[in-house]
Amino acid sequence: MERIHLKDKYFVPYIPYERLEKAIDDVAERINHDFKNFDGIPIVLCVLNGSILFTGELMKRLNFPCEFSSVRLSSYEGTLSTGITRKVLGLTSSIKGRTIIVVEDIVDTGKTITDLYALLLDAGAEDVKICTMLLKPEVYKKDLKLDYVAMEIENRFIVGFGLDYDQLGRNYKDIYILDKRTEEKAPMKHYLIFGPPGAGKGTQAAKLVERFGLRHVSTGDLLRRQIAEGTELGLKAKHLIDQGLLVPDEVVEGMIAAELDANPDVKGFLFDGFPRTTAQAEHLDTILADRGRKVDAVLSLAIPDEMVFERIRHRAQIENRADDTKPEVIQNRIDTYHAKTEPIAAFYKDKGVYQEVDGTGTIDEVFEKLCALM
Ligand code: AP5
Ligand code: MG
Repeated sequence: MERIHLKDKYFVPYIPYERLEKAIDDVAERINHDFKNFDGIPIVLCVLNGSILFTGELMKRLNFPCEFSSVRLSSYEGTLSTGITRKVLGLTSSIKGRTIIVVEDIVDTGKTITDLYALLLDAGAEDVKICTMLLKPEVYKKDLKLDYVAMEIENRFIVGFGLDYDQLGRNYKDIYILDKRTEEKAPMKHYLIFGPPGAGKGTQAAKLVERFGLRHVSTGDLLRRQIAEGTELGLKAKHLIDQGLLVPDEVVEGMIAAELDANPDVKGFLFDGFPRTTAQAEHLDTILADRGRKVDAVLSLAIPDEMVFERIRHRAQIENRADDTKPEVIQNRIDTYHAKTEPIAAFYKDKGVYQEVDGTGTIDEVFEKLCALM
């Protein structure tokens, strides 16, 4: 039995099938004993979906004549004569005057089983016996007597042997328990992708966020969106971007805090083109620390200036970025990078999170190197 993975959770082995079999043997023996001289034919009633496997195992062990039927309880809705706002769905044969053995997978607070008990008597059942595979005695607070309990368990979330987590896990023959380690959320990761214009930051970021389930935050893209939407901020930014100059720190800093708070459920963030000045790097540290978080790694793509020109000229033929068209603007972007952005490398080297990768290989080669670092 190994740890199993269902959606966002992990489950570890809890009750092996052999123990379940033994418990089912015992409970079946008690039912056989009680029904040995029973004058009539009881209906074994499987409560879907959870008790499907248990009912099958139990039925194989019953040695007196019995019929089988299955039901499901509706969720709470319109009022019935019992005062219970649920209905028994799927009951095909009449149960008037019959003895029913209800088979449940698990009883915790007892709400479902007490509702079902009342609804079956209301539908004319002569007698209703209850058999459950599992009982959580810590949380069962009802007076209703449970005639047959195969096994008692602690109040923990379980799957397997018919029991599910969001409809998954019913098929396992053993029972698993939620792995407590996965109940504690993994800390969010924060990566920076760093490098000169055209180094491949955007290209690699798109692939990395897909591989690692991160949120891609490109300040360049955010600013271009503002420009496209014609906002006041966009108009101001356009003027500077078109010259290959940086927009003021406060403008991008506001965008970053908003992105962090708008995405509380992601595994982490990959910042592309931010921070670009030492002041921005310090600001990022502060807003992350305010949230109990930190920069985990800075992935720096190293490429020579000549290659920057080559790549940007190539991109200008495909995309339509205003700052890609004029050589003097490209040169300005490169100069701004060396003057204002490159010094950040020392800031992160001091913290021991700076990692440099040769950015001159093919896109896939660079990607594999970055993945290895992450
Ligand atoms: P921003 O959008 O960040 O531009 P940039 O830093 O100049 O970088 P690029 O987006 O041009 O290059 P990239 O590294 O993403 O490369 P890409 O993957 O596209 O910023 C734009 C402007 O906004 C700034 O100048 C500034 O004014 C302002 N701004 C943004 N953030 C700011 C901030 N924090 N503070 C202040 N101002 C800010 O690749 C380039 C090309 O090469 C593509 O065609 C690609 O297909 C190709 N390519 C990529 N990798 C390879 C490879 N390995 N082999 C061959 N080709 C490759
Ligand atoms: Mg980019």
